[in-house]
Amino acid sequence: MDREKILLFGHRGARGEAPENTIAGCRRALSAGMDGIEVDVRVCRSGEVVVAHDATLTQITGRRLPVLAYSLVELKRLDVGASFSEAYRGERIPLLEEVLDNFGDKLILDLELKGKGIHAFGLEEKVIRLVHRRGLQDRVILSSFNPLILLKAASLDPTLRLGFNLLDDFWIGLRKIWFPRLLHSYSVHPEPSLMDEGMVKFARRREAKLIPWQVNEESDIRRALELGADGVISDFPTRLKRVYNEWCAEKRLPPSL
Ligand code: G3P
Ligand code: MG
Repeated sequence: MDREKILLFGHRGARGEAPENTIAGCRRALSAGMDGIEVDVRVCRSGEVVVAHDATLTQITGRRLPVLAYSLVELKRLDVGASFSEAYRGERIPLLEEVLDNFGDKLILDLELKGKGIHAFGLEEKVIRLVHRRGLQDRVILSSFNPLILLKAASLDPTLRLGFNLLDDFWIGLRKIWFPRLLHSYSVHPEPSLMDEGMVKFARRREAKLIPWQVNEESDIRRALELGADGVISDFPTRLKRVYNEWCAEKRLPPSL
């Protein structure tokens, strides 16, 4: 069978099993047998690229702290593990560099570049520089919902893999129209509600890999595999790996597929 391996990713590290976007979460995804991880990156006040999902850290710290208003030193003082569970108390917000250094040789890294509008505070340049410095160009996918970020990244290094995130929102039609016209992406990442035959055709027509995200329910994982997804991103790496292995066994496919 000449099909590439279906890639399994932990979402925000392993969001359902460990604090999101932390080194502990990435380790968890690795030990669960993931091929890769997705993490969110943004710039903090002192200019470093940190791994954090929201513009404010309310969900993970319980306090309304805008990432852009705090320096790295200040952010590093925050505990982002205890709100998940006491076992993770003391977990810190990682720098992107820490994720690249710890996992770049072990996992495929889907780096989601966060930013609204036209200004991402130099995020694209900074991320690309960090990736280049470590020679990890072939190990990363730079993904985003923001077309301007993807265009900027493509202009800085047209050889890097780009991932196009899709949400089932008001703008979905528009996104699907401008995306193919403006850039060619390596992969398309729809949320589970968008996973259907039409989405498969959309990706195939553009020769883009189809890698849905936050595929958490067993039924959704199976549906993604049945539809022919090239990868699956889930909050629950342990569940994803189990369902994937069971599915491979049922189909009499080697688990390496
Ligand atoms: O992989 C895409 C996915 O991470 C986008 O959603 O909000 O979890 O960053 P979000
Ligand atoms: Mg993300």
